[in-house]
Amino acid sequence: MGGMAEDSILEIFNRHVKRNGVFKNRDALSPHYIPSNLPYREEQVKELSETVAPILSGRKPENVFIYGKTGTGKTVVTRYVLKRLGEFAKEREIPVNTVYINCRIHNTRSSVFIKIGRELLPDDNFLGLSTAYIYERILGKVREADIRLMVVLDEIDKLKGISETVYALNRANDELEKGSISIIGISNVLTLKDSLDPRTKSTLCQREMIFPPYNAEGLRKILEDRAKEGFREGAVSDGAIALAAAYAARQSGDARYALQLLLRAGDIAEEEGASAVTEEHVEKAKERVEEDIILEMIEALPEQEQILLLAMAKLVLAKKGQKTLGSGEVVITSGEAYEAYSKLARELGKDPVSDRWFREYISELAMYGILNVVQAGKGFRGNTRIIKLLFSPVKIADVLQRVLVA
Ligand SMILES: Nc1ncnc2c1ncn2[C@@H]1O[C@H](COP(=O)(O)OP(=O)(O)O)[C@@H](O)[C@H]1O
Ligand SMILES: [Mg+2]
Repeated sequence: MGGMAEDSILEIFNRHVKRNGVFKNRDALSPHYIPSNLPYREEQVKELSETVAPILSGRKPENVFIYGKTGTGKTVVTRYVLKRLGEFAKEREIPVNTVYINCRIHNTRSSVFIKIGRELLPDDNFLGLSTAYIYERILGKVREADIRLMVVLDEIDKLKGISETVYALNRANDELEKGSISIIGISNVLTLKDSLDPRTKSTLCQREMIFPPYNAEGLRKILEDRAKEGFREGAVSDGAIALAAAYAARQSGDARYALQLLLRAGDIAEEEGASAVTEEHVEKAKERVEEDIILEMIEALPEQEQILLLAMAKLVLAKKGQKTLGSGEVVITSGEAYEAYSKLARELGKDPVSDRWFREYISELAMYGILNVVQAGKGFRGNTRIIKLLFSPVKIADVLQRVLVA
């Protein structure tokens, strides 16, 4: 018993027991998780519940338009209320159906209808069918089973053809003798309402809810509650929570940023084998979260901009290998970038865009802060511009390789 080998095994195992220390349920800090309570959103939960409740006695709820800045809890409050509604209705065998649609992913009227069709008729195949036909199938099902349907169109500003979609879904109610369809539209774009045509506006905004940003105190309470679900007891210091809340308050009260900070701080604490998350871990997590945000943004760019960015990242990496510049800072010219982009686009089976669009894309990427572009000085041709990537080309190449090539 207890020889040399035995001791080192114990040491390894012990180290891992300690390491598993901070998280109890890491998932509870992820953006998809629906927590059991939503501090500082009690009023919104109540108001939305009041709005949807008529569905339980067979009346069609009013359509709702919810707006507010990113990370103010719009998505989670909606999902929370609809989840509770679904559970309540199921227990009492009331035919309520809810379909949650993120319009960033389903961004056309036909893909919205396919998504609804799939949820209501999971055994049917909708591919290749006309939108009008899918619409009739949905209506047929709603009528036949007397379904009261709630459709959530989250990030509705990303939907091409908002008017047509809202109109079609709402018009269904005139054609239905039984069942109903109601819409909850959600957006981070505060000016969206003003850009809708009057008819769409009055249909969608039968009721309106505004979600204000959280302050540091609200964020602290949110983090505290989520930490209780996600971390082992005593594994997060109060200071760490207060600091994450303070940083997020500065990021216009974004709860998502706050949670991401805490999650990453937990990861770092585990990597370091620490038994609790401290302010120092939050401090270190900031950089990683900022990186996460940029990478997510890159993942959501239009495909042509992604191809351009990948081409530039590869070019910078190739140049780095050659170390042409003494300073070690690698820049590329707009000509080189366009050439690399066109070549890559063709390799990926896409038609490269014209120089005019190329310039447009470059200024868009500059606006997002991914790159920097300046007019080249003497020694360069005419309107050559110098481009510098402001974010790790290795990381850009990593994500985009996965997104575009895989
Ligand atoms: N009041 C709250 N209590 C607990 N978690 C919250 C609360 N508000 C927001 N969150 C969390 O913060 C993140 C961002 O919220 P989300 O609903 O996605 O914001 P929005 O849709 O307004 O951009 C999510 O992970 C969500 O679960
Ligand atoms: Mg949202």
